[in-house]
Amino acid sequence: MSVLIKNGNIVTAVDSYVADILVDEGKVRTIGTDLAAQADKTIDATGNYVIPGGVDPHTHLDFPFGGTVSSDDFLTGTQAAAFGGTTTIVDFAVQQRGDSLSHALEMWHAKAEGKAAVDYGFHMIILDLPDSRLPELDEMVRQGVTSFKLFMAYPGAVMADDATIFKAMSRSADNGALVCLHAEHGLMIDVLVKAALADGKTAPKYHATTRPPIAEAEATHRAIRMAEVAGAPVYFVHLSCHEALQEVQAARARREHVYAETCPHYLTLDNSMYDQEGFEGAKYVLTPPLREQWHQAELWSGLKRNDLQVVSTDHAAFRFADQKTLGRNDFSKIPNGGPGIEHRLSLLYTKGVMSGLIDLHRMVDVFSTTPAKLFGLFPRKGTIAVGSDADIVVFHPEEETTISAQSHHMNMDYNMYEGMRVKGVPKVVVTRGEVIIEDGVYLGTPGDGRFLKRGTQA
Ligand code: URP
Ligand code: ZN
Ligand code: ZN
Repeated sequence: MSVLIKNGNIVTAVDSYVADILVDEGKVRTIGTDLAAQADKTIDATGNYVIPGGVDPHTHLDFPFGGTVSSDDFLTGTQAAAFGGTTTIVDFAVQQRGDSLSHALEMWHAKAEGKAAVDYGFHMIILDLPDSRLPELDEMVRQGVTSFKLFMAYPGAVMADDATIFKAMSRSADNGALVCLHAEHGLMIDVLVKAALADGKTAPKYHATTRPPIAEAEATHRAIRMAEVAGAPVYFVHLSCHEALQEVQAARARREHVYAETCPHYLTLDNSMYDQEGFEGAKYVLTPPLREQWHQAELWSGLKRNDLQVVSTDHAAFRFADQKTLGRNDFSKIPNGGPGIEHRLSLLYTKGVMSGLIDLHRMVDVFSTTPAKLFGLFPRKGTIAVGSDADIVVFHPEEETTISAQSHHMNMDYNMYEGMRVKGVPKVVVTRGEVIIEDGVYLGTPGDGRFLKRGTQA
Protein backbone atom coordinates (compact mmCIF):
# COMPACT_ATOMS: atom_id res chain seq x y z
CA MET A 1 0.00 0.00 0.00
CA SER A 2 1.26 3.50 -0.81
CA VAL A 3 0.24 6.50 1.27
CA LEU A 4 0.74 10.19 0.53
CA ILE A 5 0.67 12.44 3.60
CA LYS A 6 0.23 15.96 2.30
CA ASN A 7 1.11 19.33 3.67
CA GLY A 8 1.83 18.40 7.28
CA ASN A 9 4.30 20.16 9.56
CA ILE A 10 6.97 17.43 9.83
CA VAL A 11 8.63 17.60 13.22
CA THR A 12 11.61 15.43 14.12
CA ALA A 13 14.04 15.72 17.02
CA VAL A 14 15.94 18.34 15.03
CA ASP A 15 13.82 19.65 12.14
CA SER A 16 10.48 21.27 11.46
CA TYR A 17 9.17 22.02 7.96
CA VAL A 18 6.01 21.73 5.90
CA ALA A 19 6.21 19.01 3.25
CA ASP A 20 4.60 15.90 1.77
CA ILE A 21 5.67 12.34 2.55
CA LEU A 22 5.28 9.45 0.13
CA VAL A 23 5.25 6.08 1.81
CA ASP A 24 5.54 2.81 -0.09
CA GLU A 25 6.21 -0.82 0.84
CA GLY A 26 6.47 0.13 4.47
CA LYS A 27 9.20 2.74 4.05
CA VAL A 28 9.40 6.50 3.68
CA ARG A 29 10.24 6.84 -0.04
CA THR A 30 10.17 10.58 -0.76
CA ILE A 31 9.86 13.79 1.25
CA GLY A 32 9.29 16.97 -0.71
CA THR A 33 7.00 19.88 -1.42
CA ASP A 34 4.02 19.56 -3.76
CA LEU A 35 4.71 15.89 -4.50
CA ALA A 36 2.65 14.92 -7.54
CA ALA A 37 2.85 11.18 -6.83
CA GLN A 38 -0.20 8.92 -7.06
CA ALA A 39 -0.87 6.82 -3.98
CA ASP A 40 -3.46 4.29 -2.85
CA LYS A 41 -4.43 6.68 -0.07
CA THR A 42 -3.91 10.40 0.43
CA ILE A 43 -4.09 12.04 3.85
CA ASP A 44 -4.46 15.79 4.14
CA ALA A 45 -2.29 16.72 7.14
CA THR A 46 -2.71 20.49 6.82
CA GLY A 47 -2.58 22.08 10.28
CA ASN A 48 -1.21 18.92 11.90
CA TYR A 49 2.18 17.96 13.19
CA VAL A 50 3.59 14.88 11.47
CA ILE A 51 5.94 13.14 13.88
CA PRO A 52 7.76 9.81 14.07
CA GLY A 53 5.76 7.04 15.72
CA GLY A 54 6.54 6.68 19.39
CA VAL A 55 8.97 4.13 20.77
CA ASP A 56 7.97 3.01 24.27
CA PRO A 57 10.87 1.02 25.70
CA HIS A 58 9.16 -0.01 28.93
CA THR A 59 5.91 -1.99 28.80
CA HIS A 60 4.70 -5.11 30.61
CA LEU A 61 2.10 -6.93 28.53
CA ASP A 62 0.82 -10.35 29.63
CA PHE A 63 3.24 -9.96 32.53
CA PRO A 64 3.18 -12.39 35.48
CA PHE A 65 3.76 -10.30 38.59
CA GLY A 66 2.63 -10.07 42.20
CA GLY A 67 0.67 -13.32 42.02
CA THR A 68 -1.34 -12.37 38.94
CA VAL A 69 -0.88 -11.48 35.26
CA SER A 70 -1.17 -7.96 33.89
CA SER A 71 -4.49 -7.24 32.27
CA ASP A 72 -3.35 -5.92 28.89
CA ASP A 73 -1.83 -8.54 26.62
CA PHE A 74 -0.16 -8.05 23.25
CA LEU A 75 -3.57 -7.76 21.56
CA THR A 76 -5.17 -5.06 23.70
CA GLY A 77 -2.01 -3.34 24.92
CA THR A 78 -0.50 -2.72 21.50
CA GLN A 79 -3.79 -1.38 20.13
CA ALA A 80 -4.01 1.04 23.04
CA ALA A 81 -0.39 2.02 22.34
CA ALA A 82 -1.28 2.72 18.71
CA PHE A 83 -4.24 4.92 19.68
CA GLY A 84 -1.74 6.95 21.66
CA GLY A 85 0.73 7.33 18.80
CA THR A 86 3.19 4.64 19.88
CA THR A 87 4.22 2.37 17.00
CA THR A 88 7.03 0.40 18.66
CA ILE A 89 7.28 -1.11 22.11
CA VAL A 90 10.08 -2.94 23.86
CA ASP A 91 8.49 -5.31 26.37
CA PHE A 92 10.08 -7.49 29.05
CA ALA A 93 10.59 -11.24 28.79
CA VAL A 94 11.30 -12.81 32.18
CA GLN A 95 13.78 -15.59 32.93
CA GLN A 96 12.45 -18.17 35.38
CA ARG A 97 14.93 -18.76 38.19
CA GLY A 98 17.27 -21.61 37.18
CA ASP A 99 15.98 -21.66 33.62
CA SER A 100 17.58 -20.59 30.34
CA LEU A 101 17.17 -17.19 28.72
CA SER A 102 16.28 -18.90 25.43
CA HIS A 103 13.30 -20.59 27.06
CA ALA A 104 12.05 -17.25 28.38
CA LEU A 105 12.47 -15.70 24.95
CA GLU A 106 10.49 -18.53 23.34
CA MET A 107 7.68 -18.00 25.84
CA TRP A 108 7.50 -14.28 25.10
CA HIS A 109 7.56 -14.84 21.34
CA ALA A 110 4.55 -17.11 21.82
CA LYS A 111 2.73 -14.48 23.89
CA ALA A 112 3.11 -11.86 21.14
CA GLU A 113 2.72 -14.04 18.05
CA GLY A 114 -0.24 -13.05 15.87
CA LYS A 115 -1.52 -10.43 18.32
CA ALA A 116 0.51 -7.24 18.11
CA ALA A 117 -0.77 -4.11 16.40
CA VAL A 118 2.65 -2.44 16.44
CA ASP A 119 6.22 -3.67 16.13
CA TYR A 120 7.82 -4.99 19.29
CA GLY A 121 11.14 -6.03 20.73
CA PHE A 122 12.08 -7.66 24.01
CA HIS A 123 14.43 -6.89 26.86
CA MET A 124 15.37 -9.92 28.95
CA ILE A 125 14.82 -9.74 32.72
CA ILE A 126 17.58 -11.72 34.40
CA LEU A 127 16.97 -13.37 37.74
CA ASP A 128 20.07 -15.50 38.15
CA LEU A 129 23.27 -15.88 36.23
CA PRO A 130 25.61 -18.72 37.13
CA ASP A 131 28.87 -18.45 35.15
CA SER A 132 27.76 -21.32 32.91
CA ARG A 133 24.91 -19.09 31.67
CA LEU A 134 27.03 -16.07 30.73
CA PRO A 135 27.32 -17.13 27.05
CA GLU A 136 23.51 -17.00 26.91
CA LEU A 137 23.77 -13.23 27.18
CA ASP A 138 25.76 -13.17 23.95
CA GLU A 139 23.19 -15.48 22.36
CA MET A 140 20.43 -13.03 23.35
CA VAL A 141 22.32 -10.23 21.59
CA ARG A 142 22.55 -12.44 18.46
CA GLN A 143 18.76 -12.98 18.72
CA GLY A 144 18.19 -9.21 18.76
CA VAL A 145 17.55 -8.96 22.50
CA THR A 146 20.21 -6.37 23.18
CA SER A 147 19.23 -5.15 26.64
CA PHE A 148 18.91 -6.87 29.99
CA LYS A 149 16.92 -5.70 32.98
CA LEU A 150 17.79 -6.54 36.55
CA PHE A 151 15.79 -5.68 39.65
CA MET A 152 17.54 -4.29 42.72
CA ALA A 153 14.18 -4.52 44.53
CA TYR A 154 11.53 -7.16 45.30
CA PRO A 155 13.64 -9.60 47.39
CA GLY A 156 12.29 -13.13 47.39
CA ALA A 157 10.70 -12.52 44.00
CA VAL A 158 12.67 -11.04 41.10
CA MET A 159 15.55 -9.25 42.86
CA ALA A 160 19.03 -10.02 41.53
CA ASP A 161 22.01 -9.73 43.88
CA ASP A 162 24.87 -7.32 43.21
CA ALA A 163 27.16 -10.09 41.95
CA THR A 164 24.59 -11.05 39.30
CA ILE A 165 24.20 -7.40 38.30
CA PHE A 166 27.94 -6.90 38.08
CA LYS A 167 28.38 -10.07 36.00
CA ALA A 168 25.68 -8.94 33.58
CA MET A 169 27.34 -5.53 33.30
CA SER A 170 30.79 -7.00 32.70
CA ARG A 171 29.52 -9.30 29.96
CA SER A 172 27.56 -6.43 28.38
CA ALA A 173 30.71 -4.34 28.27
CA ASP A 174 31.96 -6.96 25.78
CA ASN A 175 28.84 -7.86 23.81
CA GLY A 176 27.40 -4.34 23.45
CA ALA A 177 24.15 -4.93 25.34
CA LEU A 178 22.63 -2.28 27.60
CA VAL A 179 21.94 -3.17 31.24
CA CYS A 180 18.73 -1.61 32.55
CA LEU A 181 18.08 -1.39 36.26
CA HIS A 182 15.13 -1.07 38.54
CA ALA A 183 17.05 0.83 41.20
CA GLU A 184 15.72 0.62 44.74
CA HIS A 185 17.39 -0.74 47.89
CA GLY A 186 15.18 -3.82 48.06
CA LEU A 187 16.42 -5.28 51.36
CA MET A 188 16.09 -2.00 53.24
CA ILE A 189 12.59 -1.47 51.83
CA ASP A 190 11.66 -4.98 52.93
CA VAL A 191 12.52 -4.10 56.54
CA LEU A 192 10.49 -0.88 56.32
CA VAL A 193 7.53 -2.76 54.85
CA LYS A 194 7.58 -5.41 57.58
CA ALA A 195 7.80 -2.73 60.28
CA ALA A 196 4.86 -0.81 58.80
CA LEU A 197 2.70 -3.94 58.63
CA ALA A 198 3.64 -4.87 62.21
CA ASP A 199 2.37 -1.41 63.22
CA GLY A 200 -0.97 -2.12 61.54
CA LYS A 201 -0.19 0.20 58.62
CA THR A 202 -1.83 -1.82 55.88
CA ALA A 203 -3.38 0.88 53.63
CA PRO A 204 -2.10 1.65 50.09
CA LYS A 205 -0.45 4.90 51.22
CA TYR A 206 2.19 2.94 53.13
CA HIS A 207 3.49 1.60 49.83
CA ALA A 208 4.88 5.11 49.31
CA THR A 209 6.17 5.79 52.81
CA THR A 210 8.16 2.54 52.85
CA ARG A 211 9.93 3.27 49.56
CA PRO A 212 11.65 6.63 50.22
CA PRO A 213 13.56 8.54 47.52
CA ILE A 214 16.88 7.79 49.24
CA ALA A 215 16.25 4.06 48.72
CA GLU A 216 16.10 4.80 45.01
CA ALA A 217 19.08 7.15 45.06
CA GLU A 218 21.27 4.68 46.97
CA ALA A 219 20.63 1.89 44.45
CA THR A 220 21.16 4.28 41.56
CA HIS A 221 24.51 5.31 43.01
CA ARG A 222 25.57 1.68 43.66
CA ALA A 223 24.66 0.57 40.15
CA ILE A 224 26.47 3.50 38.57
CA ARG A 225 29.64 2.65 40.49
CA MET A 226 29.36 -1.05 39.51
CA ALA A 227 28.91 -0.05 35.86
CA GLU A 228 31.98 2.17 36.07
CA VAL A 229 34.08 -0.74 37.30
CA ALA A 230 32.59 -3.04 34.65
CA GLY A 231 33.16 -0.43 31.92
CA ALA A 232 29.56 -0.79 30.76
CA PRO A 233 26.84 1.74 29.97
CA VAL A 234 23.81 1.62 32.24
CA TYR A 235 20.18 2.72 31.90
CA PHE A 236 17.81 3.43 34.78
CA VAL A 237 14.17 2.59 34.24
CA HIS A 238 11.35 4.61 35.78
CA LEU A 239 13.47 7.21 37.62
CA SER A 240 11.05 8.98 39.92
CA CYS A 241 12.80 11.51 42.13
CA HIS A 242 15.27 14.35 42.47
CA GLU A 243 17.68 12.36 44.65
CA ALA A 244 18.14 9.61 42.03
CA LEU A 245 18.39 12.21 39.29
CA GLN A 246 21.25 13.88 41.16
CA GLU A 247 23.16 10.59 41.05
CA VAL A 248 22.62 10.33 37.29
CA GLN A 249 23.65 13.96 36.81
CA ALA A 250 26.83 13.49 38.81
CA ALA A 251 27.78 10.40 36.80
CA ARG A 252 27.09 12.11 33.49
CA ALA A 253 29.21 15.05 34.62
CA ARG A 254 32.05 12.52 35.02
CA ARG A 255 31.31 11.50 31.39
CA GLU A 256 30.02 8.10 32.39
CA HIS A 257 27.64 6.39 29.95
CA VAL A 258 24.66 6.66 32.24
CA TYR A 259 21.11 7.07 30.89
CA ALA A 260 17.70 7.26 32.51
CA GLU A 261 14.03 7.38 31.69
CA THR A 262 11.15 8.79 33.66
CA CYS A 263 7.43 8.16 33.12
CA PRO A 264 4.36 10.36 32.60
CA HIS A 265 2.97 9.50 36.04
CA TYR A 266 6.06 10.87 37.80
CA LEU A 267 5.87 14.01 35.64
CA THR A 268 2.19 14.70 36.24
CA LEU A 269 0.91 12.96 39.40
CA ASP A 270 2.03 13.14 43.03
CA ASN A 271 1.75 11.24 46.28
CA SER A 272 -1.46 13.00 47.31
CA MET A 273 -3.18 10.33 45.18
CA TYR A 274 -2.56 7.90 48.04
CA ASP A 275 -4.70 10.01 50.39
CA GLN A 276 -7.93 9.20 48.58
CA GLU A 277 -10.85 7.57 50.38
CA GLY A 278 -10.89 3.85 51.11
CA PHE A 279 -8.84 1.63 48.86
CA GLU A 280 -8.68 4.11 45.92
CA GLY A 281 -4.97 4.75 46.51
CA ALA A 282 -4.28 1.19 45.29
CA LYS A 283 -4.78 2.48 41.74
CA TYR A 284 -1.47 4.31 42.16
CA VAL A 285 0.50 1.52 43.82
CA LEU A 286 3.32 1.40 41.33
CA THR A 287 7.04 1.26 41.90
CA PRO A 288 8.85 3.50 42.61
CA PRO A 289 5.85 5.26 44.16
CA LEU A 290 4.53 8.68 43.22
CA ARG A 291 6.59 11.36 44.96
CA GLU A 292 5.91 14.76 46.51
CA GLN A 293 4.86 17.27 43.89
CA TRP A 294 8.08 19.30 43.88
CA HIS A 295 9.97 16.40 42.24
CA GLN A 296 8.01 16.99 39.03
CA ALA A 297 9.76 20.29 38.27
CA GLU A 298 13.13 18.58 38.77
CA LEU A 299 12.19 15.76 36.38
CA TRP A 300 10.97 18.15 33.67
CA SER A 301 14.13 20.14 34.05
CA GLY A 302 16.16 16.91 33.84
CA LEU A 303 14.43 16.10 30.56
CA LYS A 304 15.11 19.54 29.19
CA ARG A 305 18.81 19.41 30.16
CA ASN A 306 19.22 15.83 28.82
CA ASP A 307 20.04 14.37 32.24
CA LEU A 308 16.95 12.26 31.49
CA GLN A 309 16.80 11.01 27.92
CA VAL A 310 13.58 9.03 27.59
CA VAL A 311 9.94 9.03 28.70
CA SER A 312 8.50 5.50 28.83
CA THR A 313 5.20 4.38 30.32
CA ASP A 314 6.14 1.35 32.47
CA HIS A 315 2.66 0.18 31.50
CA ALA A 316 1.80 -2.59 33.98
CA ALA A 317 -1.97 -2.73 34.17
CA PHE A 318 -3.73 -4.53 37.02
CA ARG A 319 -7.49 -4.20 37.35
CA PHE A 320 -8.83 -2.38 40.39
CA ALA A 321 -11.84 -4.67 40.83
CA ASP A 322 -10.14 -8.04 41.13
CA GLN A 323 -6.35 -7.61 40.94
CA LYS A 324 -5.39 -4.61 43.08
CA THR A 325 -7.75 -6.07 45.71
CA LEU A 326 -5.27 -8.88 46.33
CA GLY A 327 -3.77 -6.36 48.73
CA ARG A 328 -6.93 -5.00 50.34
CA ASN A 329 -5.66 -5.86 53.83
CA ASP A 330 -1.93 -5.61 53.12
CA PHE A 331 -0.48 -2.96 50.80
CA SER A 332 2.57 -5.17 50.09
CA LYS A 333 0.29 -7.64 48.27
CA ILE A 334 -1.16 -5.05 45.87
CA PRO A 335 0.22 -5.91 42.40
CA ASN A 336 2.59 -3.06 41.58
CA GLY A 337 2.00 -1.16 38.38
CA GLY A 338 -0.17 1.35 36.60
CA PRO A 339 -1.77 1.62 33.16
CA GLY A 340 -0.50 4.35 30.83
CA ILE A 341 0.57 2.98 27.44
CA GLU A 342 -2.04 5.10 25.65
CA HIS A 343 -1.35 8.53 27.10
CA ARG A 344 2.36 9.22 26.78
CA LEU A 345 2.11 11.58 23.80
CA SER A 346 -0.89 13.66 24.87
CA LEU A 347 0.55 14.07 28.40
CA LEU A 348 3.98 15.05 27.10
CA TYR A 349 2.41 17.53 24.73
CA THR A 350 -0.07 19.04 27.18
CA LYS A 351 2.02 19.10 30.35
CA GLY A 352 5.42 19.52 28.68
CA VAL A 353 5.13 21.44 25.42
CA MET A 354 1.98 23.47 26.09
CA SER A 355 3.34 24.43 29.52
CA GLY A 356 6.65 25.54 28.00
CA LEU A 357 8.72 23.00 29.95
CA ILE A 358 10.13 21.30 26.84
CA ASP A 359 9.89 22.18 23.16
CA LEU A 360 8.34 20.11 20.40
CA HIS A 361 11.68 18.71 19.21
CA ARG A 362 12.59 17.58 22.69
CA MET A 363 9.18 15.93 22.97
CA VAL A 364 9.85 13.93 19.79
CA ASP A 365 13.33 13.12 21.05
CA VAL A 366 12.25 11.62 24.39
CA PHE A 367 9.12 10.01 22.92
CA SER A 368 10.70 8.38 19.89
CA THR A 369 14.21 9.23 18.71
CA THR A 370 16.39 8.63 21.74
CA PRO A 371 14.65 5.41 22.83
CA ALA A 372 15.18 4.15 19.27
CA LYS A 373 18.87 5.10 19.47
CA LEU A 374 19.52 3.64 22.91
CA PHE A 375 17.75 0.37 22.15
CA GLY A 376 19.29 -0.35 18.76
CA LEU A 377 16.39 0.63 16.50
CA PHE A 378 17.65 3.85 14.93
CA PRO A 379 17.39 5.01 12.13
CA ARG A 380 14.86 2.36 11.17
CA LYS A 381 12.63 3.70 13.94
CA GLY A 382 12.60 7.03 15.76
CA THR A 383 12.67 9.48 12.88
CA ILE A 384 11.08 10.45 9.59
CA ALA A 385 13.73 10.14 6.90
CA VAL A 386 13.96 8.60 3.45
CA GLY A 387 14.49 4.86 3.98
CA SER A 388 13.24 4.73 7.56
CA ASP A 389 10.20 2.61 8.46
CA ALA A 390 7.02 4.52 7.71
CA ASP A 391 5.90 4.76 11.35
CA ILE A 392 4.19 8.12 11.37
CA VAL A 393 1.71 9.99 13.52
CA VAL A 394 -0.47 12.80 12.21
CA PHE A 395 -1.01 14.73 15.41
CA HIS A 396 -3.69 17.41 15.72
CA PRO A 397 -2.31 19.94 18.23
CA GLU A 398 -5.54 21.81 18.94
CA GLU A 399 -8.08 19.04 19.47
CA GLU A 400 -8.86 18.44 23.16
CA THR A 401 -10.06 15.33 24.95
CA THR A 402 -10.76 14.26 28.50
CA ILE A 403 -8.93 11.11 29.57
CA SER A 404 -11.28 8.51 30.98
CA ALA A 405 -11.66 4.79 31.55
CA GLN A 406 -14.98 5.16 29.67
CA SER A 407 -13.20 5.98 26.44
CA HIS A 408 -9.65 4.61 26.68
CA HIS A 409 -8.59 1.50 24.77
CA MET A 410 -6.57 -0.21 27.49
CA ASN A 411 -8.09 -3.38 28.95
CA MET A 412 -8.40 -1.67 32.28
CA ASP A 413 -11.20 -0.70 34.64
CA TYR A 414 -9.67 2.59 35.76
CA ASN A 415 -7.47 5.35 34.45
CA MET A 416 -4.77 7.05 36.53
CA TYR A 417 -5.47 10.33 34.71
CA GLU A 418 -9.28 10.14 34.95
CA GLY A 419 -10.86 13.48 34.12
CA MET A 420 -7.66 15.17 32.97
CA ARG A 421 -8.15 17.51 29.98
CA VAL A 422 -5.43 17.03 27.37
CA LYS A 423 -4.65 18.78 24.14
CA GLY A 424 -3.36 17.00 21.06
CA VAL A 425 -4.81 13.91 19.39
CA PRO A 426 -3.13 11.35 17.12
CA LYS A 427 -5.60 11.52 14.20
CA VAL A 428 -3.82 9.06 11.91
CA VAL A 429 -1.25 6.45 12.90
CA VAL A 430 0.76 4.64 10.25
CA THR A 431 2.93 1.61 11.00
CA ARG A 432 5.29 0.35 8.34
CA GLY A 433 3.17 2.09 5.72
CA GLU A 434 -0.24 0.79 6.87
CA VAL A 435 -2.83 3.16 8.29
CA ILE A 436 -3.87 1.43 11.52
CA ILE A 437 -5.66 4.29 13.29
CA GLU A 438 -7.80 6.92 11.60
CA ASP A 439 -10.17 9.29 13.40
CA GLY A 440 -10.45 7.13 16.48
CA VAL A 441 -10.97 3.82 14.66
CA TYR A 442 -8.55 0.87 14.64
CA LEU A 443 -8.13 -0.30 11.04
CA GLY A 444 -5.28 -2.78 11.49
CA THR A 445 -5.19 -6.55 11.85
CA PRO A 446 -3.82 -8.20 14.98
CA GLY A 447 -0.46 -9.63 14.05
CA ASP A 448 0.53 -6.68 11.82
CA GLY A 449 3.18 -5.90 14.42
CA ARG A 450 6.43 -7.80 13.95
CA PHE A 451 9.27 -8.79 16.23
CA LEU A 452 12.22 -6.41 15.94
CA LYS A 453 15.66 -7.93 16.07
CA ARG A 454 17.45 -5.00 17.65
CA GLY A 455 21.04 -3.96 17.20
CA THR A 456 23.24 -2.43 19.84
CA GLN A 457 23.22 1.30 20.65
CA ALA A 458 23.44 3.89 17.86
O1 URP B 1 5.18 -0.90 39.57
C1 URP B 1 5.79 -1.30 38.58
N1 URP B 1 6.68 -0.54 38.04
N2 URP B 1 5.49 -2.52 38.09
C2 URP B 1 6.08 -3.16 37.01
C3 URP B 1 7.36 -3.83 37.35
C4 URP B 1 8.48 -2.84 37.45
O2 URP B 1 9.02 -2.67 38.54
O3 URP B 1 8.85 -2.23 36.44
ZN1 ZN C 1 10.79 -1.75 37.73
ZN1 ZN D 1 8.43 -1.84 34.67
